[in-house]
Amino acid sequence: MSAADRVEFFKHTLGEEEAASWRQVLETVFLTLGPQVATFEKELGAFLLRGRSEGDALFGARHVVGTNSCTNGLMVALRALGLEPGDEVITTPMTFVSTTNAILHLGGKPVLVDVDPRTGLIDPANVRAAIGPRTRGILPVHLFGQLADMRALRDLADRHGLWLLEDSAHGTEMERDGVRPGDLGDAAVFSFYATKTLTSGDGGAVVTKRADLAERMRQLRNHGVSKAATERHGSLYQHWDMVDLGFKANLTDLDAAILRPQLPRALDQRAAREAVDLRYRALLPELAPSLFRQATSQVPPLAERVGQSTHHLFTVHVPAAQRDAALTALGARGVGVAVNYRAIHTLSYLVKVLGIPRGALPHAEEIGDRTISLPQYPALTEEQQARVARALEESLAC
Ligand SMILES: Cc1ncc(COP(=O)(O)O)c(C=O)c1O
Repeated sequence: MSAADRVEFFKHTLGEEEAASWRQVLETVFLTLGPQVATFEKELGAFLLRGRSEGDALFGARHVVGTNSCTNGLMVALRALGLEPGDEVITTPMTFVSTTNAILHLGGKPVLVDVDPRTGLIDPANVRAAIGPRTRGILPVHLFGQLADMRALRDLADRHGLWLLEDSAHGTEMERDGVRPGDLGDAAVFSFYATKTLTSGDGGAVVTKRADLAERMRQLRNHGVSKAATERHGSLYQHWDMVDLGFKANLTDLDAAILRPQLPRALDQRAAREAVDLRYRALLPELAPSLFRQATSQVPPLAERVGQSTHHLFTVHVPAAQRDAALTALGARGVGVAVNYRAIHTLSYLVKVLGIPRGALPHAEEIGDRTISLPQYPALTEEQQARVARALEESLAC
């Protein structure tokens, strides 16, 4: 098979605009924590408020703090929210390990609750049942770009005096019942990792409506020092102080310069991914009928959509007994695939640390055992999608 026949799992859309923006930074003094970072933070804040005006319920300042990853953004946010060793955080097993890694690194205890089998999103009823005396916060994940039920979660958080932190690694462009990331959470954290809907290879950002939290996070992302080098530049020497135990977690100007040109086209890119999603939903019943011949289960062959997704990923649920062979067969047919995710409490380290037995979180486990992520990006053609669907059918027939 020639390289041209391969259907890559992901292809970014970065080009000349990003290259030109990046080159401009090379001609300036500041490569990091400089004006590009500050401007990107303002632009992302404005993007999150797009179309709203004063008087709208969810209008108001959005403070954005650029970080070098979502993982480190989560740690910065958790520290700023006051997570202490032994504190419990309720979250989901249907996520990437960084969600729980961030909690564990700070000495917190992730309490995993099961997901809605139709969407894979954290189920607020299970969150309610898990709230106990050591619970300090709730950390939902907006899986594949679909917002969790933030109204229900905010209500629970308020009634129990908890904070609410959103893992929004799967995009900035989502909305559900008029709610966007950062609207109802104390903070939401984005990822700009290589395959994400906005990308600088690696990178992240935290958005919050709370000025106090933003100020603390700005210090925490930069070792906990009182003034960054850029703030001290231009005046005579001033000492800086270390006022908090922080992290090395800031976004760089080079990364911000690559991110900025992507924001104005983010909604068009979302529409292009949505078209890919709809085409799969039309093509698969015809070209991969085996996918739909499954034992009845609450986990449907295609996850249900709620609200406006970013369409970061497109997943199918195949019979568990065939999943791993299908991954190999798809790869052998030149189709790039991934698994997002095996339920994280089944992974070796987390089995040791969390000790959650198989069977305890059955919906997440079933999704994790059955899921396959297919190629999903704006440049994917209908012909390529048909090839993916046929390869899936052949793989399930193996
Ligand atoms: C749900 C989720 N949370 C967090 C992360 C971590 O993102 P980053 O690589 O920017 O740290 C990812 C990355 O894949 C993710 O999918």
